[in-house]
Amino acid sequence: MTARILDGLALSRAIRAELAERAAELTARGTRPGLAVILVGDSPASAVYVRNKIRACTEADIHSIYEHMPADTTEAALLARIRELNADPSVHGILVQLPLPPQIDEARVIETISPAKDVDGFHLHNAGALLAGTPLFKPCTPLGVMKLLEHAGTPIEGADAVIVGRSNIVGKPLALMLTAANATVTICHSRTRDLAAHTRRADILVAAVGSARMITGDMIKPGATVIDVGINRIAEGPDAGKLCGDVDFDSASQVAGAITPVPGGVGPMTIAMLLANTVDSARRFAG
Ligand code: GUN
Repeated sequence: MTARILDGLALSRAIRAELAERAAELTARGTRPGLAVILVGDSPASAVYVRNKIRACTEADIHSIYEHMPADTTEAALLARIRELNADPSVHGILVQLPLPPQIDEARVIETISPAKDVDGFHLHNAGALLAGTPLFKPCTPLGVMKLLEHAGTPIEGADAVIVGRSNIVGKPLALMLTAANATVTICHSRTRDLAAHTRRADILVAAVGSARMITGDMIKPGATVIDVGINRIAEGPDAGKLCGDVDFDSASQVAGAITPVPGGVGPMTIAMLLANTVDSARRFAG
């Protein structure tokens, strides 16, 4: 079998075009959606992610504020800036790119962002509300995975969904969203015994571990839908410098029914969902 490719780039373009129209309507009514993005320090990977987010805002005519703070920024200075943005009526979404330098407590930063502007969906208010089924914002990467599955026509109700990875950003919130959509969900992680025994049962397999090409074709049920959240840069060998996912695409695509590529799968969907959350937030502020 050769898997159908789930093109997240094409879907994200279509979603962003729709969002640009919604943003223009809001702007015409006097509320131009605005997103503030803060990057602390000089991580090249984070700088690329942030640049892509800002570019996507510009293309959708969403107002963006980009703040690049030095690596030695104090926690107090960052919290003070967040409080200013909380009070700024031109800003409807605030994103602080993670990870942060070691002198800054990530949890305190997330809790300082107003839940009403927490377009990442990381604040305890939104995380708890996701558990209860009523969040203001859902985290962008798992939301993007759900949109990809819906667009692909993958049956979710009653499906066995296996998520490899239990992060607060992806694995845990995605488990809640798939459960809400009536899948039977298993979360696997680094201590899971016989990982392949779990992954081989999956109708929907999501890899979000950050380990290059660790999910191979022999770990996949024939015909399964495979979603690869990983973005890894290969350090050595013939593919050195290239990006790859957590799934070994070459072997997996021989077995799966549908699969996301890296790049061009989940990554662009994350950005589209960030813009969607920002436009939703602006609409809420507009009343
Ligand atoms: N770092 C990696 N992914 C994310 C994300 O979705 N949001 C933020 N703020 N930081 C990240």
